[in-house]
Amino acid sequence: MTTNADLMTRLKAVECRDSTYKPKSTPLVFARAKGSVVWDVEGKSYIDLCAGFGALPLGHASEALLAVTREFENAEPMVEHAMGDVYPSEEKILFLETLRSLMPDSYKLGALALSGGQAVEIALKTAMLATKNSGFIVFENAYHGLDFGVLPLTAREDFRVPFKNYLAEDNIVRLPYGASKAIVSQGISKLKSTGLAAIIAEPIQGRAGVNSPPAGWLSMLSDIAHEHSGLLILDEVFTGFGRIGTLSSAGEANADISCFGKAIGGGFPISACFAKKHIMNAWPESSGEAIHTGTFFGHPFSAAVGRRTLLAIKDRDLAQRSKSLGETIKFRLREALKDSPLVKDIRGEGLFIGIEYTSPGFAAVLMDRLRERGVIALPSGATGSVLSITPALNIPEDVLFEAIGHVIEISK
Ligand SMILES: Cc1ncc(COP(=O)(O)O)c(C=O)c1O
Repeated sequence: MTTNADLMTRLKAVECRDSTYKPKSTPLVFARAKGSVVWDVEGKSYIDLCAGFGALPLGHASEALLAVTREFENAEPMVEHAMGDVYPSEEKILFLETLRSLMPDSYKLGALALSGGQAVEIALKTAMLATKNSGFIVFENAYHGLDFGVLPLTAREDFRVPFKNYLAEDNIVRLPYGASKAIVSQGISKLKSTGLAAIIAEPIQGRAGVNSPPAGWLSMLSDIAHEHSGLLILDEVFTGFGRIGTLSSAGEANADISCFGKAIGGGFPISACFAKKHIMNAWPESSGEAIHTGTFFGHPFSAAVGRRTLLAIKDRDLAQRSKSLGETIKFRLREALKDSPLVKDIRGEGLFIGIEYTSPGFAAVLMDRLRERGVIALPSGATGSVLSITPALNIPEDVLFEAIGHVIEISK
């Protein structure tokens, strides 16, 4: 039988050593998965509290995916790759229409890409075209992706410093997440030579360790951006479409541009930048060649799975389920762990929950212990002190409670 350890050795021989985590004990190679259960190559099962970094709102092998794969058994199957910026696929159009129908009314036009980082890159370019400015306010601990266009916005130095000489960082001012209006104003005044293109913020910081801002903070950012002729970009790549109990935070925040990724593809790569009409119309009309595109942008297969996923989230009100189940889980965790000397805080909204431990790196240790017990969860936060719980939005309650039971046992 092939073992996890054998395959990890083979991976090490063929892959860049930075690309994959190599646990010191009990390695895990995913082989099969259904719903919120994953099986490794040795046949051991795991409860998935990560859901593909939040990209599997309906879990693995969802009915959305099965419906699309069945399409390929037809005599005239759906197209698997159209010619994105030249000849669109029907599925791309349907996907954009569906996404728009689920956004607040004012977000009229979208542009598609493949990853969250690419959606944010489109947002940055859109803000520059719309404002003719090039300065950005970003926040400490923010994560917006690692491609060169968005890397300057991402806070962690270990991601940025090795590539510093290539990065345009002079037009960026980084402020504390949750900074007061006065501090944000001061920050904007430092962008004298570039002007303010946009302030960019996550509704809840995910990779930073599930940090929520003060109530009303996002709409304050919108007001202040507008006072300085700039825009508010919301990065909803992690939080969007149910994760934090709402479909989008853009309306409440009065954002000008909003970015989505992860959940909207139901496990397949597709992302979107949506904006108010006059802002998106800062892009020129395509004269045959788009000035921002990619071979796989708006990929029909991803769009097809994504649209069915979005409709399932809406029809089954999975955002509301996420909200109420999240409350139940936080309550259970708080009750069970209120006397634990290891636990500093339990927080989050919906099925976006963080348990902060008192010692740095401890959540990374727990990740390994959970794996041994058959549960998959990830550490977050700059020092790995937060355990993130981001399961599929349709995870069965008994499965979730079983996994949370393990989390409680090892957190006491
Ligand atoms: C808020 C946020 N923005 C952007 C990204 C980047 O997305 P991707 O990894 O798909 O490029 C992430 C990824 O975790 C994210 O959490």
